[in-house]
Amino acid sequence: MGSISTQHTLYGRETIFKKTLDDITIGTYHSETSLSVLPIIGPGGIGKTTFTQHLYSDKRMEEHFDVKVWVCVSTDFDVFKLTKRIYDGMLGAEKEESNTSANQTTNLNGLQESITRKLKSKRFLIVFDDIWECNSEGWENLLAPFINGDTKGNMVLVTTRFPSKAEMVKTTNPIALEGLEPQVFFTFFLRLKQQQRYKFFSGCCLLAGAELH
Ligand SMILES: Nc1ncnc2c1ncn2[C@@H]1O[C@H](COP(=O)(O)OP(=O)(O)O)[C@@H](O)[C@H]1O
Ligand SMILES: [Mg+2]
Repeated sequence: MGSISTQHTLYGRETIFKKTLDDITIGTYHSETSLSVLPIIGPGGIGKTTFTQHLYSDKRMEEHFDVKVWVCVSTDFDVFKLTKRIYDGMLGAEKEESNTSANQTTNLNGLQESITRKLKSKRFLIVFDDIWECNSEGWENLLAPFINGDTKGNMVLVTTRFPSKAEMVKTTNPIALEGLEPQVFFTFFLRLKQQQRYKFFSGCCLLAGAELH
Protein backbone atom coordinates (compact mmCIF):
# COMPACT_ATOMS: atom_id res chain seq x y z
CA MET A 1 0.00 0.00 0.00
CA GLY A 2 1.36 3.43 -0.84
CA SER A 3 4.84 3.92 -2.26
CA ILE A 4 6.96 1.10 -0.97
CA SER A 5 9.77 0.71 -3.44
CA THR A 6 12.57 -0.27 -1.11
CA GLN A 7 16.03 1.19 -1.61
CA HIS A 8 18.19 -1.84 -2.43
CA THR A 9 20.68 -1.52 0.41
CA LEU A 10 20.22 -0.05 3.86
CA TYR A 11 23.52 1.64 4.62
CA GLY A 12 24.60 1.69 8.25
CA ARG A 13 22.09 1.51 11.13
CA GLU A 14 22.86 -2.20 11.68
CA THR A 15 22.61 -2.10 15.48
CA ILE A 16 19.32 -0.23 15.75
CA PHE A 17 17.88 -2.22 12.85
CA LYS A 18 18.62 -5.57 14.48
CA LYS A 19 17.47 -4.38 17.90
CA THR A 20 14.16 -3.13 16.50
CA LEU A 21 13.59 -6.34 14.57
CA ASP A 22 14.31 -8.38 17.71
CA ASP A 23 12.09 -6.17 19.90
CA ILE A 24 9.21 -6.60 17.47
CA THR A 25 9.50 -10.28 16.66
CA ILE A 26 10.86 -11.87 19.85
CA GLY A 27 11.34 -9.13 22.45
CA THR A 28 9.46 -6.39 24.27
CA TYR A 29 6.70 -5.76 21.77
CA HIS A 30 6.17 -9.39 20.82
CA SER A 31 4.56 -10.25 24.17
CA GLU A 32 2.60 -6.99 24.56
CA THR A 33 -1.12 -7.57 24.87
CA SER A 34 -2.03 -3.99 24.02
CA LEU A 35 -1.13 -2.26 20.78
CA SER A 36 2.42 -0.88 20.61
CA VAL A 37 2.99 2.39 18.77
CA LEU A 38 6.65 2.99 17.94
CA PRO A 39 7.56 6.34 16.35
CA ILE A 40 10.65 6.78 14.19
CA ILE A 41 11.74 10.40 14.21
CA GLY A 42 14.35 12.58 12.52
CA PRO A 43 14.59 15.47 10.06
CA GLY A 44 13.36 15.14 6.46
CA GLY A 45 15.74 13.10 4.29
CA ILE A 46 17.55 11.43 7.20
CA GLY A 47 16.27 7.98 6.18
CA LYS A 48 13.11 7.28 8.23
CA THR A 49 11.09 5.88 5.33
CA THR A 50 14.03 3.82 4.05
CA PHE A 51 14.73 2.36 7.51
CA THR A 52 11.06 1.53 8.01
CA GLN A 53 10.71 0.01 4.51
CA HIS A 54 13.58 -2.33 5.27
CA LEU A 55 11.94 -3.35 8.53
CA TYR A 56 8.57 -3.78 6.82
CA SER A 57 9.87 -6.07 4.11
CA ASP A 58 12.30 -8.07 6.23
CA LYS A 59 11.70 -11.82 6.06
CA ARG A 60 11.31 -12.06 9.84
CA MET A 61 8.53 -9.47 9.76
CA GLU A 62 6.86 -11.31 6.88
CA GLU A 63 6.81 -14.45 8.99
CA HIS A 64 5.77 -12.71 12.19
CA PHE A 65 2.72 -10.76 11.02
CA ASP A 66 -0.42 -12.12 9.42
CA VAL A 67 -1.46 -8.73 8.06
CA LYS A 68 0.78 -5.82 7.07
CA VAL A 69 -0.35 -2.48 5.66
CA TRP A 70 1.71 0.56 4.65
CA VAL A 71 0.01 3.95 4.40
CA CYS A 72 1.67 7.20 3.28
CA VAL A 73 0.08 9.99 5.32
CA SER A 74 1.98 13.22 4.64
CA THR A 75 0.01 16.44 5.14
CA ASP A 76 -3.46 15.02 4.55
CA PHE A 77 -4.63 13.53 7.84
CA ASP A 78 -8.16 12.51 6.96
CA VAL A 79 -9.39 9.65 9.17
CA PHE A 80 -11.94 8.33 6.69
CA LYS A 81 -9.56 8.38 3.71
CA LEU A 82 -6.77 6.76 5.70
CA THR A 83 -9.11 4.09 7.07
CA LYS A 84 -10.32 3.34 3.56
CA ARG A 85 -6.76 2.98 2.31
CA ILE A 86 -5.93 0.66 5.19
CA TYR A 87 -8.98 -1.43 4.41
CA ASP A 88 -8.10 -1.57 0.71
CA GLY A 89 -4.52 -2.48 1.66
CA MET A 90 -5.83 -5.31 3.85
CA LEU A 91 -7.92 -6.66 1.02
CA GLY A 92 -4.74 -6.73 -1.02
CA ALA A 93 -4.77 -9.86 -3.14
CA GLU A 94 -8.36 -10.68 -2.19
CA LYS A 95 -9.58 -8.96 -5.30
CA GLU A 96 -12.63 -11.12 -5.46
CA GLU A 97 -13.88 -9.42 -2.31
CA SER A 98 -13.46 -5.95 -3.71
CA ASN A 99 -17.10 -5.68 -4.64
CA THR A 100 -18.47 -6.55 -1.21
CA SER A 101 -20.66 -4.03 0.53
CA ALA A 102 -17.95 -3.28 3.10
CA ASN A 103 -15.63 -2.11 0.38
CA GLN A 104 -18.32 0.17 -0.98
CA THR A 105 -19.10 1.69 2.39
CA THR A 106 -18.94 5.43 2.75
CA ASN A 107 -19.40 5.30 6.47
CA LEU A 108 -16.44 5.35 8.87
CA ASN A 109 -18.06 3.11 11.49
CA GLY A 110 -18.94 0.46 8.91
CA LEU A 111 -15.42 0.51 7.55
CA GLN A 112 -13.90 0.24 11.00
CA GLU A 113 -16.15 -2.68 11.90
CA SER A 114 -15.09 -4.47 8.71
CA ILE A 115 -11.44 -3.91 9.61
CA THR A 116 -11.94 -5.25 13.13
CA ARG A 117 -13.65 -8.35 11.72
CA LYS A 118 -10.83 -8.91 9.23
CA LEU A 119 -8.21 -8.61 11.95
CA LYS A 120 -9.82 -11.19 14.22
CA SER A 121 -7.17 -13.64 15.48
CA LYS A 122 -4.56 -12.03 13.26
CA ARG A 123 -1.35 -10.33 14.27
CA PHE A 124 -0.96 -7.08 12.37
CA LEU A 125 1.51 -4.34 11.51
CA ILE A 126 0.38 -0.94 10.26
CA VAL A 127 2.86 1.71 9.11
CA PHE A 128 1.84 5.37 8.98
CA ASP A 129 4.60 6.99 6.98
CA ASP A 130 5.36 10.69 7.33
CA ILE A 131 2.75 12.10 9.68
CA TRP A 132 2.66 15.90 9.64
CA GLU A 133 -0.46 16.94 11.39
CA CYS A 134 -2.95 15.15 13.56
CA ASN A 135 -4.57 15.93 16.88
CA SER A 136 -5.15 13.40 19.63
CA GLU A 137 -8.85 13.06 18.82
CA GLY A 138 -8.09 12.26 15.16
CA TRP A 139 -5.39 9.80 16.17
CA GLU A 140 -7.69 7.97 18.64
CA ASN A 141 -10.35 7.81 15.99
CA LEU A 142 -7.93 6.38 13.43
CA LEU A 143 -6.64 3.76 15.86
CA ALA A 144 -10.08 2.67 17.09
CA PRO A 145 -10.27 -0.56 15.01
CA PHE A 146 -6.79 -1.61 16.12
CA ILE A 147 -6.64 -1.11 19.88
CA ASN A 148 -8.64 -4.12 21.01
CA GLY A 149 -6.90 -6.76 18.92
CA ASP A 150 -7.18 -10.28 20.32
CA THR A 151 -3.59 -11.26 19.51
CA LYS A 152 -0.33 -10.28 21.19
CA GLY A 153 2.39 -8.25 19.53
CA ASN A 154 0.34 -5.98 17.25
CA MET A 155 2.40 -3.01 16.08
CA VAL A 156 1.97 0.43 14.64
CA LEU A 157 5.07 2.18 13.27
CA VAL A 158 4.87 5.93 12.70
CA THR A 159 7.48 7.99 10.89
CA THR A 160 7.48 11.72 11.48
CA ARG A 161 9.84 14.65 11.50
CA PHE A 162 7.89 16.25 14.36
CA PRO A 163 8.89 15.17 17.90
CA SER A 164 5.58 16.58 19.22
CA LYS A 165 3.61 14.16 17.01
CA ALA A 166 5.81 11.28 18.14
CA GLU A 167 5.11 12.21 21.77
CA MET A 168 1.39 12.22 21.09
CA VAL A 169 1.17 8.82 19.40
CA LYS A 170 3.85 6.82 21.19
CA THR A 171 3.30 3.99 23.64
CA THR A 172 7.05 3.37 23.79
CA ASN A 173 10.27 5.36 23.35
CA PRO A 174 10.73 6.69 19.81
CA ILE A 175 13.71 5.74 17.67
CA ALA A 176 15.58 8.95 16.81
CA LEU A 177 17.54 8.59 13.57
CA GLU A 178 20.65 10.68 13.13
CA GLY A 179 23.00 11.13 10.17
CA LEU A 180 25.00 8.15 8.96
CA GLU A 181 28.50 7.64 10.30
CA PRO A 182 30.95 9.58 8.05
CA GLN A 183 32.56 6.39 6.74
CA VAL A 184 29.18 4.80 5.94
CA PHE A 185 27.97 8.02 4.38
CA PHE A 186 31.05 8.15 2.16
CA THR A 187 30.48 4.57 0.95
CA PHE A 188 26.85 5.46 0.25
CA PHE A 189 27.95 8.59 -1.59
CA LEU A 190 30.43 6.65 -3.75
CA ARG A 191 27.67 4.25 -4.70
CA LEU A 192 25.46 7.16 -5.79
CA LYS A 193 28.37 8.58 -7.74
CA GLN A 194 28.85 5.23 -9.52
CA GLN A 195 25.16 5.31 -10.35
CA GLN A 196 25.48 8.89 -11.63
CA ARG A 197 23.06 10.03 -8.95
CA TYR A 198 25.47 12.23 -7.07
CA LYS A 199 24.48 15.69 -8.26
CA PHE A 200 22.27 16.41 -5.23
CA PHE A 201 25.02 15.34 -2.93
CA SER A 202 27.94 17.16 -4.54
CA GLY A 203 27.28 20.28 -2.47
CA CYS A 204 27.62 18.57 0.87
CA CYS A 205 30.58 16.56 -0.34
CA LEU A 206 32.35 19.71 -1.45
CA LEU A 207 31.61 21.18 1.95
CA ALA A 208 33.26 18.15 3.48
CA GLY A 209 36.31 18.83 1.31
CA ALA A 210 36.08 15.49 -0.51
CA GLU A 211 37.49 14.94 -4.00
CA LEU A 212 34.79 14.12 -6.53
CA HIS A 213 36.84 13.01 -9.54
N1 LIG B 1 20.52 4.15 5.38
C1 LIG B 1 20.29 4.40 4.07
N2 LIG B 1 20.75 3.55 3.12
C2 LIG B 1 20.52 3.80 1.82
N3 LIG B 1 19.81 4.85 1.35
C3 LIG B 1 19.34 5.73 2.23
C4 LIG B 1 19.53 5.54 3.64
N4 LIG B 1 18.96 6.56 4.29
C5 LIG B 1 18.40 7.35 3.34
N5 LIG B 1 18.64 6.85 2.11
C6 LIG B 1 18.22 7.47 0.84
O1 LIG B 1 18.11 8.87 1.11
C7 LIG B 1 16.91 9.40 0.58
C8 LIG B 1 16.03 10.00 1.69
O2 LIG B 1 15.65 8.97 2.61
P1 LIG B 1 14.17 8.82 3.19
O3 LIG B 1 14.10 7.48 3.83
O4 LIG B 1 13.17 9.14 2.14
O5 LIG B 1 14.17 9.98 4.29
P2 LIG B 1 12.99 10.48 5.25
O6 LIG B 1 11.89 9.48 5.19
O7 LIG B 1 13.61 10.61 6.61
O8 LIG B 1 12.58 11.83 4.71
C9 LIG B 1 16.22 8.27 -0.18
O9 LIG B 1 16.58 8.39 -1.53
C10 LIG B 1 16.84 7.00 0.39
O10 LIG B 1 16.89 6.02 -0.59
MG1 LIG C 1 9.87 9.74 4.57
